[in-house]
Amino acid sequence: MCGIVGITSNKQVTPSIINSLRKLEYRGYDSAGIATLSKGFINEVKCEGRVDILEKNLSKNKLLGNIGIGHVRWATHGIPSTINAHPHSSEKVSVVHNGIIENSTILKNFLIKKGHKFKSQTDTEVIVHLITEYLKTNDLKKSVLKTLSKLNGSFALGIIFKDQPDLIVGARRGSPLAVGYGPNENYLGSDSYALKSMTNKISYLNDGEFCIIKKDDVEFFDADGNKVNKKILTLSSSEQNYNKGDYKHFMAKEIDEQPTTIKNCINEYLDKISNSINIFNFPWKKNEISSIVLIGCGTAYHSCLMAKYWFEQITTLNVTVDIASEFRYRKNRFNNETLYVFVSQSGETADTFAALDLCNKKKMKTCSVVNVVESSIARESKFVLPIHCGPEIGVASTKAFLGQMLVLYILCLKLAIMRNDINKNEYHKKIKSLFSLSKLVNQTLETESKIESLCSSFVNIKGSMFLGRGYSFPIALEGALKLKELAYVHAEGYPAGEMKHGPLALIEEGMPVVVLAPRDEYYKKTISNMQEVIARGAKVLLITNKNKDEIHSENIWEKVEVENATDDLLPFLITIPLQKLAYYSALKKGYDIDKPRNLAKSVTVE
Ligand code: G6P
Repeated sequence: MCGIVGITSNKQVTPSIINSLRKLEYRGYDSAGIATLSKGFINEVKCEGRVDILEKNLSKNKLLGNIGIGHVRWATHGIPSTINAHPHSSEKVSVVHNGIIENSTILKNFLIKKGHKFKSQTDTEVIVHLITEYLKTNDLKKSVLKTLSKLNGSFALGIIFKDQPDLIVGARRGSPLAVGYGPNENYLGSDSYALKSMTNKISYLNDGEFCIIKKDDVEFFDADGNKVNKKILTLSSSEQNYNKGDYKHFMAKEIDEQPTTIKNCINEYLDKISNSINIFNFPWKKNEISSIVLIGCGTAYHSCLMAKYWFEQITTLNVTVDIASEFRYRKNRFNNETLYVFVSQSGETADTFAALDLCNKKKMKTCSVVNVVESSIARESKFVLPIHCGPEIGVASTKAFLGQMLVLYILCLKLAIMRNDINKNEYHKKIKSLFSLSKLVNQTLETESKIESLCSSFVNIKGSMFLGRGYSFPIALEGALKLKELAYVHAEGYPAGEMKHGPLALIEEGMPVVVLAPRDEYYKKTISNMQEVIARGAKVLLITNKNKDEIHSENIWEKVEVENATDDLLPFLITIPLQKLAYYSALKKGYDIDKPRNLAKSVTVE
């Protein structure tokens, strides 16, 4: 999704802006642009497509200047095109924007009446003309305040001014924004990652705040224009995590990193000597929580669905799962005894953040499961459980999915023991088996060559289905999502027992169907459902676990066996071949695996 960079320095800024825009490419985008201020003029270079094209355009049309803003755009208002790419500029002002201005049509009509001429189809351009209009009669700070007060919707903004050659204004409502501090230069970025190659000293704007960034000074203000003090945080994670190494794609690297990320997460949360959980500062007591609501979007939502099965099996809590974009507009029955858990890799997803904000306003108990610990969702939650996966760059989430499931499983065990829902022996046993998970995932990665050899059957097809029951159902949804996202194949995840209530009509001769049937308590039922699709011509790829018992079924097209594990841990293992299936299917089609079309890594608009 859209990304912002701004730099004010005592040296030329275009090369560093390009470098930072490259860091933001992982978010998914369709056009890019830069504007700088030089010799009293705003100049911009923009393009449809990738930052590589922008760089080529810049070699023909050099952009000089010690101050500038850059942007990668993911289209919302107006098609992806050079004209609609950001920055948008008037003679006086240039703006980059993440988010959506909901009242842009009304503002545009108002500005057209005042004589302003619009070039693009974007909502962003109204911001340019509003500031330009207010600057006629107000100073900079007042013009900014007045402009922000007129905007409805969400935004992160970076603004430069023709008549203020030494400053960038940043402003935030809804969409995240960070400020970075460097030697004789300071920065603005839609996330700290964009600024990482330049600095690890970061401050975050809170909702409603704006800032004025000069090369040697940064001032922050609240929505009324009062000065606010900010903490400067020092970020940790090293640069090398962001490199592909010998891998062709980040996604391949991230899938293979899973044994390590699981090990890291387990080391953070579990004590091997006592076989217990190291979450000492959990803020709520056992009688303060009687139910749990798990909220997320996309893959994170699937990890919530998975966790519901564990919570119901292991605790006596009432469990509800919700998609954040639904939760935030529903008439919810808020309950003081409910723990609201927000799951998000990026910690910036607009809908998940809005759902959290709603719960905070209602003074509910909020906890987040995130990968990015400096993210908005982490900062606004009462309690944070990081998944310790390291940066995930591939748009389609892989290692974060396993990380989210793992932390939710650990939280489930934590609540179970706290509430005496599980006996101590059982609790220690479950924790002990977690210590073998990393090795099991590693061994399961060996299914790769088999999956690679059969992915051609998933490439040029009308559609496919992923079936599972119980613990395997959320994984079926995730497997189908991965194939859709990466190979652009219609794929549906379905509870195997529901097939006969409609989707069986879709099955035709040769249709590839993935059946997830590990030998857990649902196994026999799923195998029966598998027979039903085979009988109707489906070409079944069965994913199960290694076992000496034979599978009593004929006409299975192919079988992939993951390692053996407890019922609780099998969902982690059966996920692996599905990730590889999507990866190799997309590879076969020559698609852009790390940046699939139309998708974004961090969805900062609703
Ligand atoms: C986007 C990404 C998905 C991700 C979802 C939620 O759609 O492409 O991979 O699952 O957002 O993101 P979050 O950062 O909140 O987990």
